[in-house]
Amino acid sequence: MDAGSFAASSTRRPPDGARDDWTIDQDWSGYTAVEHRVWVTLYERQAALLPGRACEPFLHGLEALDLHGAGIPDLRELNRRLNALTGWTVVAVPGLVPDEVFFEHLANRRFPAGRFIRRPDQLDYLEEPDIFHDLFGHVPMLTDPTFADYMQAYGRGGRRAIGLGRLTNLARLYWYTVEFGLLSTPQGLRIYGAGIVSSRGESVFSLEDPSPNRLGFDLVRVMRTPYRIDDFQQVYFVLPSLQRLLDDTLQDFGPVYRRLQALPDLAIEEITPEDVVVSRGTQAYAQARSAAGA
Ligand code: PHE
Ligand code: FE
Repeated sequence: MDAGSFAASSTRRPPDGARDDWTIDQDWSGYTAVEHRVWVTLYERQAALLPGRACEPFLHGLEALDLHGAGIPDLRELNRRLNALTGWTVVAVPGLVPDEVFFEHLANRRFPAGRFIRRPDQLDYLEEPDIFHDLFGHVPMLTDPTFADYMQAYGRGGRRAIGLGRLTNLARLYWYTVEFGLLSTPQGLRIYGAGIVSSRGESVFSLEDPSPNRLGFDLVRVMRTPYRIDDFQQVYFVLPSLQRLLDDTLQDFGPVYRRLQALPDLAIEEITPEDVVVSRGTQAYAQARSAAGA
């Protein structure tokens, strides 16, 4: 699941066949051979790209969960391993779920994952998160104790942000960390964001392309930065450590949200004098795409 779910209406009822908390059975034996092959194809493409690009906790989690298998993982087996490591479980849902349902699951260390997988002609792009994005992208990081705690705290914070009318700001934090975050390591920049590690194109673009800005992570700054859901990001935020993410977000966001009321949003490609610039992007990619009418 990802921040796209933050746009979902809050009063919808679960679809037929789903439980009150929107979960469904994965029905693992119901997947077809073609669907399993889509998983294996995507898995192999990413497994070849990610050593040296994804961060150690991600690669370690991928091994610990044995996600390669012969195809789409069976959640019953995956959950045995994951739960033993950090107390998280993955639950299947029909698709995007309403915000408060999503946050309620996270706050209880349950990660909602779409049951469906993309079609063979959609390997590189699709709008809604599927089971490859949700399991391959998100679940390895949930084996890291610090990140696991962050995700749970985020769920609690989500409920609070709804009450305070600050969900737009909190959703940006999710986007630029959980989905598109980069980590600085002694070996160089590494990916931890699920939206990047599950995308062949962005796994390379985010680290190696001269176009995007790469800026030091700053909580308030991130919350002022809009994002695009239709193409590669124009800016990535770089964490010095996962612990820093947890430490910064354990503070009370009440004062943070009050500060934000007085601060305007930034333009997506803007660099401010306060920013720590890891690399200043050319924005050539985004400019070429908008010139082409993309
Ligand atoms: N500390 C935040 C609050 O007071 C909650 C939160 C934790 C938000 C972790 C995001 C991530 O609202
Ligand atoms: Fe996601």
